[in-house]
Amino acid sequence: MELFDVYPLYDVAPVSAKGIEVKDNHGTTYLDFYGGHAVISIGHSHPHYVNRIKSQLEKIAFYSNSVQNPLQQELVELLGRLSGCEHYNLFLCNSGAEANENALKLASFHTGKSKVISFSNGFHGRTSAAVATTDNPAINAPINKQQQVTFLPLNDFDAFEKAIQSDTYCAVILEAIQGVGGLDEPTTEFYQFIAKKCKENGVVLIADEVQSGFGRSGAFFAFQHHGIQPDIISIAKGMGNGFPVGGILIHESIKASYGLLGTTFGGNHLACVATLAVLEVLEQENLIENARTLGVYFKQEAAKIPHVKKIKGRGLMLGLEFDFEVADLRKRLIHNQHFFTGGSKNKKLLRILPALNISKDHIDQFFEALNKELS
Ligand SMILES: Cc1ncc(COP(=O)(O)O)c(C=O)c1O
Repeated sequence: MELFDVYPLYDVAPVSAKGIEVKDNHGTTYLDFYGGHAVISIGHSHPHYVNRIKSQLEKIAFYSNSVQNPLQQELVELLGRLSGCEHYNLFLCNSGAEANENALKLASFHTGKSKVISFSNGFHGRTSAAVATTDNPAINAPINKQQQVTFLPLNDFDAFEKAIQSDTYCAVILEAIQGVGGLDEPTTEFYQFIAKKCKENGVVLIADEVQSGFGRSGAFFAFQHHGIQPDIISIAKGMGNGFPVGGILIHESIKASYGLLGTTFGGNHLACVATLAVLEVLEQENLIENARTLGVYFKQEAAKIPHVKKIKGRGLMLGLEFDFEVADLRKRLIHNQHFFTGGSKNKKLLRILPALNISKDHIDQFFEALNKELS
């Protein structure tokens, strides 16, 4: 048997990792400025995270959602308090795509409608409705194309107003900072306009915070920079710091009933302690503030580089746009300088998504390495 060959791979095989450092099978140490697609939020193998999971594993790792799991209750309380989203209820699942799939399904149940508004360059996952709302025809199979999705340009007030009046939409889904799409953002005015129009037209507003949530943008959720209140918030990635866990926060105005949503693995004991450990470290180590402060520092340092044409993003969800395609630069950063960075749909954009507990010194090391490759 061989692996189903769907990923182009860099020739690096990490075998251990600690904090922001990743070591490969030859003993070479890399600095991780990508966090494996924005997943590593509190650093690799954080001792509190390791201990929480280890000790839970020795007690009970899994039981299905047919019995009480007090860890879920503990998680609801801490997540509600730290995110400021106390007026939401939590449904747990296993990944970002699954979170959006459940968000879209719930919006459709709630409104009795089926069409969705999404935005150019939006990315929401690779499953049925989630991939249909993703602006990339190449990853949509004929079965996904049955979904009815209208793609609109970001920040186009007229196009949005015209579309939403048709009274056929169950949901609007958007990222407050586009990840895979290349770090573009709705303006505050546009996001507030969307929220207002959704409310007026009875359309469910889904904030996809799979990548931008859990402190990455310098606020718990990136939509919080815009003072709006979504109906559903989807979460994953940094939530589990590598443990596969996702979820949706559902505003209390949307009522639950038995059978509406369901999952076998979602909310299992290990997933709960992984998420609790992430939240505890975010709070104890002030990591959201660190993301905010170091994001500003990173941008200041990036502005000194003449090759950088645009600096995008917030907190530690950042992008550097060059006037050339960055695929080769990324390879050189890995192989010559031992730094992991990310790419995006915008081929000229280098994506920067380190753990939220990096230091100024790590950022200085990154710019030293980048300057070497640019000179
Ligand atoms: C904004 C956003 N939504 C959803 C997803 C899908 O998440 P997953 O790969 O966990 O299914 C991603 C993944 O990159 C994402 O960036």
